[in-house]
Amino acid sequence: MRSDQTQTGVRHRWPDRAFHWVMAATVIVLTGSAFLPILGIRFDWVPIHWISGIVLVVAILFHLVRVFAVHGFREMIPGPEDIREAAGDLAGRAGGLKPAKYDAYQKSYHWASAIAVLAVTITGVIMLLKIDTPFWRRDPSIMSDQDWGVVYVIHGLSSLAILFLVILHVYFSILPEHRAMLRAMIAGRGPLFARGNTHEQD
Ligand code: HEM
Ligand code: HEM
Repeated sequence: MRSDQTQTGVRHRWPDRAFHWVMAATVIVLTGSAFLPILGIRFDWVPIHWISGIVLVVAILFHLVRVFAVHGFREMIPGPEDIREAAGDLAGRAGGLKPAKYDAYQKSYHWASAIAVLAVTITGVIMLLKIDTPFWRRDPSIMSDQDWGVVYVIHGLSSLAILFLVILHVYFSILPEHRAMLRAMIAGRGPLFARGNTHEQD
């Protein structure tokens, strides 16, 4: 029996790491192709944007298959321990919490970014009907102008939320104290628990 040691092992299996990095690359390309033209850097951004959007949709479907078929939901569901963790951190005493793969902040980040990314991709897929692609001709008449307005507002607001969330996420990922987590998302092995890192092991 070992205690007072960080239990390490395979934290993220390769299909999940591949999903994370493909999804991250597409989100970065999507935000770049959307916001750089607004900043005055002009290029033919629409094909880059919609093609990487389709790659993102495929990546999310792959993630959902992994969640339903392999992982289950347990590790990502917020519970009383997460509230204790957040409340304890605010009060300056977070000790004695049960070990968990993801801490309260990672779960919050996952669900905030999942909602924003789902909102942006669902509206993005609807907006595809407004452009010509090799697969279909544009047909804006499927919705009224007012409904298109709602779709555009949701797409724009969720993309701003993603920009904010990703900057926050990348900032925390590259801090020296989170190096083991960064290594785990690249190479797989790392701490099995983000919370309650010290864990008894046989
Ligand atoms: C309703 C949709 C979603 C559900 C139900 C869901 C569920 C989950 C669950 C249960 C896990 C934990 C897997 C585990 O380690 O046991 C997870 C991990 C993760 N999710 Fe999601 N997710 C959803 C949408 C998204 C979206 C849209 C993104 C992209 C921003 C995303 C990105 C991630 C990442 C990067 C991980 C960590 C990778 C890993 O599995 O090790 N998820 N998700
Ligand atoms: C270059 C950019 C990025 C870096 C360096 C990065 C880094 C990381 C790392 C190190 C983890 C693992 C944390 C752990 O093991 O618990 C992680 C997880 C995750 N990443 Fe990223 N990521 C990037 C981009 C993105 C983007 C663009 C999104 C989605 C919008 C995203 C969504 C997630 C989610 C939902 C998780 C799982 C929850 C969590 O562990 O916080 N990542 N990322």
